[in-house]
Amino acid sequence: MDSFTELPLRPPLIDFHGVSMVRHFTDNWENIQNFQARPDDIFIASFPKSGSTWMSYILDLLYFGQTDPVRQTSIPIYERVAFLESSYRGFPPGTEQADKLTTTPRIIKTHLPVQFAPKSFWEKNCKVVYLSRNSKDNAVSYFHFARMNKTQPEPGDWNNFLQRFMNGKMVFGSWYDHVTGWWEKKQTQSNIHYMFYEDMIEDLGRELDRLCSFLGLSPSEEEKERVKVGTHFDNMKKNDMVNYTRIPVLDFKVSTFMRKGKVGDWKNHFTVAQNEQFDEDYKIKMKNTTLQFRTVV
Ligand code: A3P
Repeated sequence: MDSFTELPLRPPLIDFHGVSMVRHFTDNWENIQNFQARPDDIFIASFPKSGSTWMSYILDLLYFGQTDPVRQTSIPIYERVAFLESSYRGFPPGTEQADKLTTTPRIIKTHLPVQFAPKSFWEKNCKVVYLSRNSKDNAVSYFHFARMNKTQPEPGDWNNFLQRFMNGKMVFGSWYDHVTGWWEKKQTQSNIHYMFYEDMIEDLGRELDRLCSFLGLSPSEEEKERVKVGTHFDNMKKNDMVNYTRIPVLDFKVSTFMRKGKVGDWKNHFTVAQNEQFDEDYKIKMKNTTLQFRTVV
């Protein structure tokens, strides 16, 4: 990694074609839009804090766990998986990082809302794994991440952050638009596999089987077991190659990247009044979609 000293700390949110963003995800826009996907690329798309690092590690192990064990102990996950829109000053932009990946397939992650995805995703029909997470846990996870990650705008207090979340004033915009936008796209695109964090927590074996069937992979039981054990939350939390402890702009004294990894932590954060307001607002925002999240219990 290059220079962390040039990173803009606590940047302001900007309005970018109607979506809240920060400059370090829009500065490389032309190259992002013109990005040349390859038919065998695998994309991970998600709203931030939906479990994209978990998915990154799962895919990396599925594709390279057998053939390249050294990779698992020597290359941090954010160097194995390119982050498409990243254009932090002092670092190679995500599009360059993707071009430099020597693996086949290349695994590339993006948090872009569907309307910003490069055209080549669709032209090349490459596989896209979309990972979604229920709104309440997603908001809580994002709050703690924004507190510890100094390249995020100031989070303010929890109530302030939650209002911003409901208003879509997050980096990468509105959770509601993001999850429904990719859902609608999936109805017309067979190259999108739409997944839920809660399903993975419930039964990772079942979700791995579905994922592998979409990817056209048939790992042995032993390989699947290795993926399940390696990507278990407790093991990822201890693993310096995937837990982001090497990134100095993340303040681990404030929170951790592998924070809780649970469904339902929102209950420890939402007041009764916040919950009622959120539910009312949710019904309105989600009334025109067939996308259903399971009840958060
Ligand atoms: P919490 O903050 O709720 O703990 P992303 O990687 O997209 O930034 O998402 C981060 C969230 O995914 C964090 O949620 C993190 O703990 C959770 N996560 C990461 N690895 C996980 C795993 N193996 N199992 C369950 N949750 C995981």
